[in-house]
Amino acid sequence: MQYKIAVMPGDGTGPEVVAEGLKVLKAAAAHQGFDYVTTHYDFGGERYMRTGETLPDSAIVEFRQHDAIFLGAMGHPDVAPGILEKGVLLKARFALDQYINLRPVRLIPGVETPIKGKGPKEIDYCCVRENSGGMYTGMGGNSRPGTKDEVAIQEMVYTYDQVARCLRFAFDYARKYGKKSRGVGQDNTLALIGKSNVLTYMYKLWNRVFAEIGDEEYPDIKREYYHVDATCLYMVVSPEMFDVLVVENMFGDIITDLGAITQGGLGLAAGGNINPDGVSMFEPIGGTAPMWTGKNAINPLAAVGAVQMMLEHLGEKEAASLVEKGIAHAVTKMKSMAANEMGMGTSDVGDLVAKYVLQS
Ligand code: IPM
Ligand code: MN
Repeated sequence: MQYKIAVMPGDGTGPEVVAEGLKVLKAAAAHQGFDYVTTHYDFGGERYMRTGETLPDSAIVEFRQHDAIFLGAMGHPDVAPGILEKGVLLKARFALDQYINLRPVRLIPGVETPIKGKGPKEIDYCCVRENSGGMYTGMGGNSRPGTKDEVAIQEMVYTYDQVARCLRFAFDYARKYGKKSRGVGQDNTLALIGKSNVLTYMYKLWNRVFAEIGDEEYPDIKREYYHVDATCLYMVVSPEMFDVLVVENMFGDIITDLGAITQGGLGLAAGGNINPDGVSMFEPIGGTAPMWTGKNAINPLAAVGAVQMMLEHLGEKEAASLVEKGIAHAVTKMKSMAANEMGMGTSDVGDLVAKYVLQS
């Protein structure tokens, strides 16, 4: 058995954090005795400027031959916004039908949160972001562009099947990893996040399917509903009320940045673009951080966390748990989670985790 991993470091600090993630992967494989091989892909800003190519269809075909994809970051200061984000990142998500974006919000002990009076016990939940629909489908257009009569439409689109498959994943996740299952709460709870007081067509569908599937297939899961604006407020003042959240694509994009900052910042937040029946892609949520590129100053722990999620997804639970412990160990040695304030370099942080894993 040999895992095939496609690696796409991307732009900015992407390559630096990916290198540390791979360092930790190597340590985990050595410790656990599993085998893997990586294929590197240089898609991103530099390649685009050289060749005009973003992510060709042939790459999608090759990705399908892999067990997982490890991505750094996409976006380049010399390339217009949207080209690489849509052309590479979103293209991969859509073409591989990675319809779930799993984004845990967990505060690691020892990491500072900007929320006063809250700690790892309170900040411990997971966002299941729908990753294939909504306003990200790119449906709409501009009529009479450039004139004072211009009309712009960007549609929020969901089908029954898209909603149902996302909700089933979220219910399953809550059953497996909810607070009751992890022994830290009374219930496994799934909260649907929406805006049913304004987006009445959209949430008529989401709420109906949520209730139907919940009643018929997941009577053991406690159900809740919150508006997305109120959710932002609760994420700050009472994050302990959350267990598993399920949220449509754009709202999920927004609230997971808020979640990331409450767990110690983008230097720590990892996510997985999941296709449960296909190839999934793991990435640090943070961007390319052009300011810190090439300075050995960026925090690689989010990328290491992405490797942890990838190992979990591949079924290497022991390895994933070792990496998780390695991250927890590294944070106790770091001055701060912020770029350039860690009290050590990017590669030192990777070394800390890798050594911890190897010596366990
Ligand atoms: C994210 C990012 C992407 C998104 C961008 C870069 C297209 O913000 O992964 O959260 O909006 O999904
Ligand atoms: Mn985002």
